[in-house]
Amino acid sequence: MRSLRAIYWLLVCIFAVAALTAQQRPPDVPYVPTPHEVVREMLRVAQVGKEDVVYDLGCGDGRIVIAAVKDFGAKRGVGVDIDPERIRESNENARNAGVTDRVKFLQQDLFETEIRDATVVTLYLLPSINVRLRPKLFRELRPGSRIVSHDFDMCDECEGEGSETCIKGWHPDKVLRVRGPYREHTVYYWVIPAGVAGTWRWSVQTPRGERQYVLTLRQRFQKVMGTISVDGRESPIADARLVGTQLSFSTTRDMGGQKVTMRFSGRVNGDTITGTVEIQGGQFAGKRDWVAKRDKVNLVGTWQWKGGTLRIEQRKGELVAYIGNTPVSDFYAWGSGIYFTLDRAREEVYEGVVDGDQIVGTINGTARWEAQRK
Ligand SMILES: C[S@@+](CC[C@H](N)C(=O)[O-])C[C@H]1O[C@@H](n2cnc3c(N)ncnc32)[C@H](O)[C@@H]1O
Repeated sequence: MRSLRAIYWLLVCIFAVAALTAQQRPPDVPYVPTPHEVVREMLRVAQVGKEDVVYDLGCGDGRIVIAAVKDFGAKRGVGVDIDPERIRESNENARNAGVTDRVKFLQQDLFETEIRDATVVTLYLLPSINVRLRPKLFRELRPGSRIVSHDFDMCDECEGEGSETCIKGWHPDKVLRVRGPYREHTVYYWVIPAGVAGTWRWSVQTPRGERQYVLTLRQRFQKVMGTISVDGRESPIADARLVGTQLSFSTTRDMGGQKVTMRFSGRVNGDTITGTVEIQGGQFAGKRDWVAKRDKVNLVGTWQWKGGTLRIEQRKGELVAYIGNTPVSDFYAWGSGIYFTLDRAREEVYEGVVDGDQIVGTINGTARWEAQRK
């Protein structure tokens, strides 16, 4: 009798552990499938093709990754869902579609899933979940990776009800409206930008000798601002655009009484930009190559200012930040630039560029912020 009871309790324990493992915690978002016509537009706007590895975080019945490999020729698809029922459905749908060799479905929490090999990530979650996921997307995805979200953006604060202009947060690169079977859907599209903040230098040989260029950039997600100086004469840059690793900007200045416009474009690869400049007006009009190198900076350390202390550490090749012993969940490092939300309730956004042992930047885009390395 005692041994029967022991076997009974052993079985109860095994079932309890199996149930817990099967579904670690309740889903953050309920299951609602994306209509097939919206799936098609999501994959079309991301230009999914044969080089792509597509992840759907919260994959439901697997329709997005199945369509990515079957209809758009993606190399691989990975669907992640916390609900075992959804994973069963996804595997069955993949078998029916004949694509089991190119798709994989993982029953796990999307926040715990490594997504480093994704070139495209699709989402149909909720605004708050997208915002929570945002630093992970920046940490793990390579510049140029695309993200598409059905119906929900990545803004902390929008301009107004129904507006797509982010006052705080990550403004989408594109927004589409798609007619579904019952309503109009919205598709948001972003490209992970390269980290370009910092000071870039190069020189150009001219008949009048060598000219020194210094480009100083600040960055907020894909938005880039800054100045360029030629032989010490500084002017603001205009039309700056950063799409993945492709950077372009222009500057217009008066040179010897002539208006000269320089349109720069280049590809960012770590601390190097390689590109061409088109010069209009002046005696050097024409097209030339430029190669810029960024000044090396060290973000790691303890940074102190009147209102607080931020510690930046390197962990497994990634930069992580702490206020005291609490990790800063919404922290980004873009080249020499950092951006973080100190406290969501107080809605304080800190951004700045590291220059030697100093960070110079702003709080909420207006108040000046200066921190020193301790
Ligand atoms: C709105 S449905 C979207 C399904 C699918 N992506 C689509 O567009 O058709 C959201 C899915 O996310 C899953 N989900 C919610 N929280 C999750 C989490 N933390 N980790 C993994 N999956 C999650 C749910 O089980 C659900 O299937």
